[in-house]
Amino acid sequence: MIELKGRKLVLGVTGGVAAYKAAELVRLLGKAGADVHVVLTEGGARFVTAVTFQALSGNRVWTDLWDPRMDNNMAHIDLTRDADAILIAPASADVMAKLTHGLADDLLTTLCLARDCPLLVAPAMNRQMWEHPATQRNVAQLRADGVTLFGPAAGEQACGEVGLGRMLEPEELCEAVIGFFQPRLLAGRRVVMTAGPTFEAIDPVRGITNSSSGKMAYGLARACAQAGAEVVLVSGPVALPVPAGAHRVSVRSALEMHEAVFAALPGADVFIGVAAVADYRPATSAEHKIKKSGAELSITLTPNPDILADVAGLPNPPFCVGFAAESRNLDEYAEGKRKAKKLPLIVGNLVQDGLGGDDNLVVLYDAAGRHPLPKATKPDLARAIVAHLAGLLPQV
Ligand code: PMT
Repeated sequence: MIELKGRKLVLGVTGGVAAYKAAELVRLLGKAGADVHVVLTEGGARFVTAVTFQALSGNRVWTDLWDPRMDNNMAHIDLTRDADAILIAPASADVMAKLTHGLADDLLTTLCLARDCPLLVAPAMNRQMWEHPATQRNVAQLRADGVTLFGPAAGEQACGEVGLGRMLEPEELCEAVIGFFQPRLLAGRRVVMTAGPTFEAIDPVRGITNSSSGKMAYGLARACAQAGAEVVLVSGPVALPVPAGAHRVSVRSALEMHEAVFAALPGADVFIGVAAVADYRPATSAEHKIKKSGAELSITLTPNPDILADVAGLPNPPFCVGFAAESRNLDEYAEGKRKAKKLPLIVGNLVQDGLGGDDNLVVLYDAAGRHPLPKATKPDLARAIVAHLAGLLPQV
């Protein structure tokens, strides 16, 4: 995924132990396609050298307001002239205080004052420094000035104390930057989704399940959260990290999923059924492990409730999006399901294209007809699906 392709980022690294994590952040931002230019403060350079950042970013590292390498000697202006954002990570209490008051006594703070691009700040400091009224006043002022803060997180600190003040992990910061550039198509909306397979127990050891990996659903949860939605992800058993901004409710069986969906539904604007829910479950689940006897064994199956149909059948349903996984006749079966379940939108895919893998080939079906999307990665398709569904949502 090259989600930051074409983006120029100026990364300010200030003095703090978390500066070592900025090296990994540069690598991740670069991997996501960003052109990263590092500005190292004097304090930052005490923790990590310019050589490291130069090697990882592939660009010169800037430390000095009077750097003669800039042709016109205007590094303080030129570096951010065509930047998409300045990100300061880690941002010390000191730099935040300077930004609040418009001080410009080094290259980084001067760049921040002279910029016309967004400023993103990832604080990192001891918990008492973070909690200090002066820092909290600065945080409030920075927010009022339109600065975006990422974190801090709570946890164990380099000083041995525990509390708020840790810098977000590089992966979280990279996700936050990617999210920052996404259009807020679902701002203020609440989205409830199902994800992954269900597991229908036969006995305490065995069960009926399927090979849904959850990748399509988790990609959609991420895209919805990055589009500004509050996301509840009712998920069957998959081992995927929960996307930032989504809240996961873990379930196993279709019955548990049904219950969790209805518990999460009040206030939902959108319901998306991505889970590969088992249509049937064993009529009874043995209390103890079934012993091998050598004789034939039959398992009676009983139908599970259809979660999507039950949600769409509510008197005032949220905007319902279904998925249809077929092995043939995609147009006919997917459109048939959309009409049978009275859905405004269904996403059709062939299991041979979409089940388990990283890519998918999908067709969207709505009242206006069929809209095929080019084959792409699941996160990329997720963004396209979000854009399509946002266009169909009633205005609030
Ligand atoms: O998880 P991945 O490996 O990334 O794979 C993605 C996927 C192939 C699972 C996904 O793209 C997909 O197609 N999900 C829907 C799978 C499915 O169960 O389709 P279906 O045609 O059987 O069901 C139609 C719709 O009804 C789906 O929205 C399903 O979630 C819903 N349903 C089905 C049965 C049931 N008892 N309750 C439901 O809510």
